[in-house]
Amino acid sequence: MKNLIKTGYGRLTYIICENGTVYIDVIEIYPEFRNKGYGKNMLKTFIEQHPNKKINLCASTLKGSNMDRLIKFYESFGFIRTGKIDSAGGIDMTRNN
Ligand SMILES: CC(C)(COP(=O)(O)OP(=O)(O)OC[C@H]1O[C@@H](n2cnc3c(N)ncnc32)[C@H](O)[C@@H]1OP(=O)(O)O)[C@@H](O)C(=O)NCCC(=O)NCCS
Repeated sequence: MKNLIKTGYGRLTYIICENGTVYIDVIEIYPEFRNKGYGKNMLKTFIEQHPNKKINLCASTLKGSNMDRLIKFYESFGFIRTGKIDSAGGIDMTRNN
């Protein structure tokens, strides 16, 4: 089941797998609110709310995003690339707690 965190400035959808691994599906800050710290705050809070969990995601740019900056965004939270690139050009990343 997909879970949704929705705020006035963005959204984050995620799935908790049977083995406890968390998978972030989408994190999006709406264009008019970007680069004001909301995305960092949303991801930081999410990580804090899922202690001792492995978190996986696929870094995949939506309109207006830049892949190099997106990778750095996730790396600043301890995510590392697993090396896999999916058919749509998304890059798998993981974070162990
Ligand atoms: C990526 C995103 C969530 C960051 O949220 P934000 O509130 O704009 O970012 P913050 O102000 O909290 O933090 C700034 C950092 O976000 C990242 N960022 C900001 N704008 C970005 C953009 N257009 N593309 C990629 N990364 C971006 C950078 O790492 C930036 O740090 P820097 O200024 O040192 O380069 C937001 O830009 C977004 O929603 N992008 C479109 C959706 C998307 O591609 N989501 C990823 C799906 S996996």
